[in-house]
Amino acid sequence: METTRLGVLISGRGSNMRAIVEACRGGRVPAAVAVVVSNKASAAGLEWAREQGIPTRVLPHRGHGSREEHDAAVVAALREHGVEWVCLAGYMRLLSADFVEAYPGRILNIHPSLLPAFPGLDAQRQALEYGVKVSGCTVHLVDAELDHGPIVVQRPVPVLEGDSVVTLSARILEQEHLAYPEALALLLGGGWGLEGRRVRLDVDPG
Ligand code: GAR
Repeated sequence: METTRLGVLISGRGSNMRAIVEACRGGRVPAAVAVVVSNKASAAGLEWAREQGIPTRVLPHRGHGSREEHDAAVVAALREHGVEWVCLAGYMRLLSADFVEAYPGRILNIHPSLLPAFPGLDAQRQALEYGVKVSGCTVHLVDAELDHGPIVVQRPVPVLEGDSVVTLSARILEQEHLAYPEALALLLGGGWGLEGRRVRLDVDPG
């Protein structure tokens, strides 16, 4: 199968990035990570990517102009590396419309709740404080609204009686590491389409 070139955007730990890299290398996703981009030089995930021999770029947003200007620099870096699909993996920035249009329908994000519940920051804390009995994670296509685009994969995680933000986050994270490769494998395999907001996986690839 052809190998799709992925660009992974991170801001921190990068455990989802790592799950994506390992799924590609293990043949579970027909792709390879061509570059890892971080808006934070201190992102721990950068170190792991470097150790793995994956090209990395640090493009800080602070002091580098408007959102559009910063996004244009990120898109330019992705294009330099021949990136075809973009994976946001703990990238804590809202994308400009220009960025979304540069990769139409080819940007994925992971969020630690069952969207549309609890978008934005601290999703696991929001879920605990609201008192839901089930939360989880969502992989979705990205549009210009925060945590909003069409849903590709969701994995539920029960909220347990003794849960804290730390314990719930850890169990959700385990599911994130399965959900992201699963979503990539579904979409990169072709044979899907959008019906309104619905990602349909039963479309004849033609
Ligand atoms: C993950 O839990 C991810 O779902 C979340 O940040 C964490 C990043 O962890 N993303 C968001 O909240 C985006 N709204 P990681 O750096 O170890 O992948």
